Amino acid sequence: MNQQELKQAVLTEKSRQGVLILAHTYQSPDVLEIADITGDSFALSKAAREVKEQRVLMCGVRFMAETVKIVSPEKEVILSHSGAGCPMAEQIDPREVEAYRQEHPDHAVCAYINTTAELKAVSDVCVTSSSAVDIVSRIPQKDVLFLPDKNLGSYVAKRVPEKNIHLMNGFCHVHNGIRPEHILKARQQHPGAKVAIHPECPADAVALADMAGSTKEIIDYALSCEDEIIFATERGVYDALSLRFPHRNFHQLEPQLMTCVNMKKTTLQGVYDALTGKSGEVILMDEPLRRAASVSIENMLRYGG
Ligand code: 13P
Ligand code: SF4
Repeated sequence: MNQQELKQAVLTEKSRQGVLILAHTYQSPDVLEIADITGDSFALSKAAREVKEQRVLMCGVRFMAETVKIVSPEKEVILSHSGAGCPMAEQIDPREVEAYRQEHPDHAVCAYINTTAELKAVSDVCVTSSSAVDIVSRIPQKDVLFLPDKNLGSYVAKRVPEKNIHLMNGFCHVHNGIRPEHILKARQQHPGAKVAIHPECPADAVALADMAGSTKEIIDYALSCEDEIIFATERGVYDALSLRFPHRNFHQLEPQLMTCVNMKKTTLQGVYDALTGKSGEVILMDEPLRRAASVSIENMLRYGG
């Protein structure tokens, strides 16, 4: 099958089976094209609860498929590629968090959604990059343990100075590799261009950008102006926007560094194989774990609006 035939076969199969396809913005353009709903982590989590289809295929990484299962246990949730994990999601041992809670019973534990179900189960509230600042400012506790991403945590701490944010040592290896020199070099190559950066990048790089924000905020920023833009985030955003808006002057910062290999494990052929039962993984979760993890997700949806 050529790409066009493959695309048609995916569309036919998904409508025949009544499967809803969710895809994170970091997926490649051909996968985004066949998805029913695309968006950042927050948009996908909200959609997961609202959609009526009983079978959902997640084109993204494992914690995203787990989130769908946590909020909609009655659905069959398939992860498009069983090897697509997010290394950051597993960087913290839940026992460390439990020990912290015992020592600091008055602190809130706030987990980035990029965490395992086990970590969500020992947290009070989840956040995504587009909701973290709002949610942390709304939770009642003054002291907040933010896990696992130290970069997103320090970004939130700067914007919510009334809270004491306690950080752990996690990071996204894709965004954490960005250095101030990369930004300075890109500015030399594209004088006058604006730099839009994701807060998973280190603070010294974020400080040199024109805007910092989540995947959705970066997209909204790029589309709200006519400026030349350098994208300092996973390259999926640049790939999709430069295809949709070929007349715009868009650039990707350090494209090799800023490619999440886990997100790119899903291919159009992989989607077809997952739909026809040849690959992919049906997400299973023990009910007590699911219930415990759902508290932090429900709190996220409540505080995040
Ligand atoms: P957002 O979708 O919240 O921007 O997160 C980026 C990311 O790294 C997802 O894995
Ligand atoms: Fe995880 Fe980073 Fe990849 Fe997102 S971009 S899935 S945080 S490794």
